[in-house]
Amino acid sequence: MATLPQKLHQPPAITVDNICFSWAVDAPILKKCCLEVPRGEFWMLLGNNGSGKSTLLKLLAGLITPNSGTVAINSPFGFVFQNPDHQLVMPTVGADIAFGLVKEHLTYVEVRERVREALSAVNLLELERRPIYALSGGQKQRIAIAGALARHCEVILFDEPTALLDPDTQIELVQQVQNLVKVRGLTALWVTHRLEELDYCDGAFLLQQGKVIAQGEPQALKAKVLATESH
Ligand SMILES: Nc1ncnc2c1ncn2[C@@H]1O[C@H](COP(=O)(O)OP(=O)(O)O)[C@@H](O)[C@H]1O
Ligand SMILES: [Mg+2]
Repeated sequence: MATLPQKLHQPPAITVDNICFSWAVDAPILKKCCLEVPRGEFWMLLGNNGSGKSTLLKLLAGLITPNSGTVAINSPFGFVFQNPDHQLVMPTVGADIAFGLVKEHLTYVEVRERVREALSAVNLLELERRPIYALSGGQKQRIAIAGALARHCEVILFDEPTALLDPDTQIELVQQVQNLVKVRGLTALWVTHRLEELDYCDGAFLLQQGKVIAQGEPQALKAKVLATESH
């Protein structure tokens, strides 16, 4: 199994340790699943439909609890869904990002600064007053990412964020996340089934039958998936 050199003295930003989880009795989805995402890196999670990728992200986000095993994730963390219409709740871009900051009890000026800085990071500052309904799918995903940046998230979990995008927008989004990880030192875990996205990440995991069966260098993993598919 290929492994990437671990950064010394840095605990991983995400740790999944021997997780078992089942939605229904006698139908385990995750079986002693383990993975670690190094801090400041962009990793992807691949696996067939129904292999438990979304379930794993929900466990990481604390939306469900494992039957056994432990998860750890650096805080604050954000979540970007496949469908941004399930995520953006306010009428305009600026209001939506500001809404995510309510719990932080910031001043009006601080909120405005956070919103503008986050929008600049995704190159969408000019859309601050735009109604959400007037955005494209790719723009909506970038607004969801800006929401996490405004909250100063250390880690962002992405569940098939490009599934509803056309191919050009898909690649723009993955490149933008690659750049944000590099420039801002974020950690990202990105679920996908599109192999071409692997070209932009630092490493990847392959989930099969409840376990990570391969991990590490993206191109090697891509070759492995292609070899499996051709059988
Ligand atoms: N809320 C739920 N209740 C019951 N079963 C679920 C629920 N969510 C997912 N499952 C089941 O768990 C398995 C893994 O699903 P999921 O994690 O969504 O896979 P993936 O994201 O890899 O396609 C599937 O068999 C799915 O039907
Ligand atoms: Mg899924």
